[in-house]
Amino acid sequence: MNEIGDAFSQNEDLIPLSGREFTYITALVYDRFGIHLPEQKKVLVSGRLSKRLRRLGCKNFSDYIRLLENDSTGAEISEMINLLTTNHSFFFREGEHFDFLANTVLSDLSGAFARGGPYPLRIWSAGCASGEEVYSVAMLLHDRYAGKPGAPDIGLLATDISLTALRTAREGIYAAQKFNEMPSRFRQRYLGATEEREYAVAEEIKAMVLFKRLNLMAESYPMKGQFDVVFCRNVMIYFNQESRNRVVSTLYRYVKPGGYLFIGHSESLPREWNPFDYVKPAIYRKGVEPTKSQGVRR
Ligand SMILES: C[S@@+](CC[C@H](N)C(=O)[O-])C[C@H]1O[C@@H](n2cnc3c(N)ncnc32)[C@H](O)[C@@H]1O
Repeated sequence: MNEIGDAFSQNEDLIPLSGREFTYITALVYDRFGIHLPEQKKVLVSGRLSKRLRRLGCKNFSDYIRLLENDSTGAEISEMINLLTTNHSFFFREGEHFDFLANTVLSDLSGAFARGGPYPLRIWSAGCASGEEVYSVAMLLHDRYAGKPGAPDIGLLATDISLTALRTAREGIYAAQKFNEMPSRFRQRYLGATEEREYAVAEEIKAMVLFKRLNLMAESYPMKGQFDVVFCRNVMIYFNQESRNRVVSTLYRYVKPGGYLFIGHSESLPREWNPFDYVKPAIYRKGVEPTKSQGVRR
């Protein structure tokens, strides 16, 4: 996605943003959400926020900052982060992860539980944007298990900081190009046409997922229990090292022993501070005996 171009096309008349104002906004975004906005993002920030300022009747960024300072409910900070996050995603993005899920994770689990009743299978899309990632997982699981004997008891959670992205996710309607990487049998089975060049995800797939707002920078998360797989892909690219370290350490607590963390293929977790074991590019695993837990830092 061309963020700068995007900012310009949406906002022809940018409201000037001074160095001091930019520093205030970036510090706030970093403190609250871990997102690092370097100097090069100044045009993007003023581009994405100018329209909002006009809507609120703010003449300049100083007015807007005053409003943020008095935002005791957090509502405006939430509106601001909706505008500043990049929610780009598409179905079956980085397809190797879905192959690994199907061929290794699910096969291993069904082997381990071969003699038991329905076993739990919990998967979390952390930083789910508008839902394409978790719906891809849901389709894969539905295709594999629906109506079959011995199917696991599936729980799918998807979280994001952006309420705008979550609204789109819950709606489940997407432009055609979001499905370019999707296997054709899934298209036939799980998509319905709405308007021209838009498709709706089948209700049975939507019903499999629980969407919630969650800030990954929180000290702890409100979920009960741990997950077999956490997808946290293309989220930490917006974080600096300190935020990444913090989020990975927190996520670690929510992964079952032997469970997996998938990150984006353009991301990596340095060995020195990473409590997970490396499996292959962009795939990490929590040891069954968490011997590396001393590596967990906060
Ligand atoms: C580029 S999207 C990635 C979507 C999907 N995981 C994928 O790989 O296609 C990054 C998402 O991370 C979310 N995000 C950024 N910082 C976050 C935070 N502190 N807590 C929760 N979500 C965050 C953004 O709102 C955005 O929707």
